[in-house]
Amino acid sequence: MSKMARKHKALNLSQGFPNFAADPVLIQHVSEAMKKGVNQYAPMEGIFSLREVISEKIASLYGKVYHPDHEITLTAGATQAIYTAITAVVHTGDEVIIFKPAYDCYEPAIKINGGIPVLLQMKGKDFQIDWEEFRSVITNKTKLVIINTPHNPTGMVLSQADMQQLGTSLKGTDILVLSDEVYEHMVFDSHSHESASKYPDLAERSFAIVSFGKTFHVTGWKMGYCAGPASLMKEFRKIHEFNVYSVNHPIQNALVEYLSIKEHYLDLSSLFQKKRDLFLQAIENSKFTCIPAQGTYFQIVDYSEITEENDVDFASRLVKEYGLASIPISVFNLDKLDHQQLRFCFAKTDETLYKAAEIMNRIH
Ligand SMILES: Cc1ncc(COP(=O)(O)O)c(C=O)c1O
Repeated sequence: MSKMARKHKALNLSQGFPNFAADPVLIQHVSEAMKKGVNQYAPMEGIFSLREVISEKIASLYGKVYHPDHEITLTAGATQAIYTAITAVVHTGDEVIIFKPAYDCYEPAIKINGGIPVLLQMKGKDFQIDWEEFRSVITNKTKLVIINTPHNPTGMVLSQADMQQLGTSLKGTDILVLSDEVYEHMVFDSHSHESASKYPDLAERSFAIVSFGKTFHVTGWKMGYCAGPASLMKEFRKIHEFNVYSVNHPIQNALVEYLSIKEHYLDLSSLFQKKRDLFLQAIENSKFTCIPAQGTYFQIVDYSEITEENDVDFASRLVKEYGLASIPISVFNLDKLDHQQLRFCFAKTDETLYKAAEIMNRIH
């Protein structure tokens, strides 16, 4: 869609990246670290001071203490952490349960390791997990379950009840969990982020994966981490060492400073909620309808009152005829299930959001 958007000079709300500047304070910390000469390899698992800050952050938010020495590893973004975690534990013939619609890097990573993705479609236009169905697909080959909350592309979050269902369903098994939490600091209204770290029975079997690129609107920096129990982290690091060895050193130094001020991440939900609200208000009188996103920086928009076209056709017509790019949800769904929904990224300047709304208000 981004390629099509460029070709047709369309406003691009398709891909998930912000079009506003990163905090100059963060940039300043990185450039100071470079000037100070922090430009050589970092330790394989990441610098200790950053692992320590991350450990304290997780403990204060979710009440779980990961030992910085052997339970946290810095990675080149969440994508590398996801690939590494999957490679560390999934072997030929292992089954991995994924909930659809799903972010696109899970399935290829499973398949390249000889694993078998077991795909479960979330139900309805508000994408609820059917836990009965989940339990029915667990077999003695199930190795891993991948969850993602807050969820891309739907903007939904898993509730406490969902996490309890997951915990109960896995009780008495050796099944592991990969919890993709890259949008942990973008949660709205009365919702909360239910990290796998928060639930002792899940934490002991989970890789929790986070992205600083997403959190601090610097997706091009590719910096993240994985937290998990020592036994899992030991396996993770065997792959990490020969995959990337270590990740960007000056950025790690900068993050130690930057994370010391909690508001830098605690204030993000309100920043993105304002953007979501601005976008929703601006399209309030259009023929598009929405269930407000509970988290992430994506809003799903239903266009069924406008046309019967399928979502891929409608999304491409939006680009070509109206100059507005979004993502059709069916591409993330099982069997391309089409609820006539598009995903818009609202991590954009107010000006961009108003321009998008102006276009959407014209469509009948
Ligand atoms: C759900 C989800 N997980 C992981 C990633 C990748 O994060 P990173 O850019 O840190 O590799 C993304 C990026 O869009 C995402 O939406």
